[in-house]
Amino acid sequence: MEIKTVGVLTSGGDAPGMNAAIRSVVRYGLSRGFKMVGVERGYHGLLRGEFLDLDASSVCDLIQRGGTVLQTARSKQFATPEGIAQAVEVAKEKGIDALVVIGGDGSFRGAQKLSENGLPTIGIPGTIDNDISCTEYTIGYDTALNTAMEAVDKVRDTATSHQRCSLIEVMGRNAGYIAIEVALATGAEMVLVPEKDRACPRVELVNRIVDDIKIGQAVGKKHHIVIIAEGVGGSQELAEMIEECTGVETRATVLGHIQRGGSPTIHDRVVAAQMGMKAIDLLSEGKSNRVVIIKNGQLSDMDINEGLAMQKTVSDFDYRLVGNLSRGMWNS
Ligand code: F6P
Repeated sequence: MEIKTVGVLTSGGDAPGMNAAIRSVVRYGLSRGFKMVGVERGYHGLLRGEFLDLDASSVCDLIQRGGTVLQTARSKQFATPEGIAQAVEVAKEKGIDALVVIGGDGSFRGAQKLSENGLPTIGIPGTIDNDISCTEYTIGYDTALNTAMEAVDKVRDTATSHQRCSLIEVMGRNAGYIAIEVALATGAEMVLVPEKDRACPRVELVNRIVDDIKIGQAVGKKHHIVIIAEGVGGSQELAEMIEECTGVETRATVLGHIQRGGSPTIHDRVVAAQMGMKAIDLLSEGKSNRVVIIKNGQLSDMDINEGLAMQKTVSDFDYRLVGNLSRGMWNS
């Protein structure tokens, strides 16, 4: 089928760099002769026909802006077979022949269903969590890391002044990528991630932190910073338990949605530009149900079904490196 009109939407949690990706998809799509249509509020908007025609000037002044100008949503109705069929029908009525979906795993499951039902789709990975198994990088991750790093540096100042223990919870859903990199970048004493620590009883986690605080005190440390991934959670409860066991004043800080906003870093803008172009190239080549990925540092693509079946996990080396560097003692 000849593709004349391409829709683009953002879905799931927003991520810095999504706007840069929209800009790239639209401008490069137009240059390849496609008519470009924006779908507002993700799959929710697709079901409701919330479309806007886009030209080159529609995406002016976007590249540096956080969030997504197309807005985003999580739609329960879309996830049903009836919802998918309706979405395809609404898209066809508007003359949309193919769709570029910028989002995470959940968004790609939707894209997969749409392709199965006759609407060609291409996925672009956009999430701060970097938890999409088939790609080494997802748009928004670098910006979120930098935001979290700056926030932790600030908490560290006050923790040192007050000689406190600070538990700082970062986002990441069920993954610990943000937590480990932020812990390494801020010189945190310890990191807790769901992949390694979620199953551990709370008392055991507390004991580990308490032992570590004692090691730190023995070498004259003035603070104790623990980065906790949200998939481990419970930082307030842990803080109370630690303070009770050690007598060291302990505070919990949940960074929350601050990590999702802000102007994208250069890395996110560049990757967004490249991935947007690749998505359009794939459609021009008549491909569908593909996800744009970074593999061995290079731009590539993969079947969405295969991509969704893959698994990746955090680096054991980096996880251990956090504690080793903090203590100056190497556990292999
Ligand atoms: O997937 C991005 C993310 O920010 C996760 O890190 C977090 O678990 C989730 O979205 C929060 O979602 P919401 O915006 O619905 O609170």
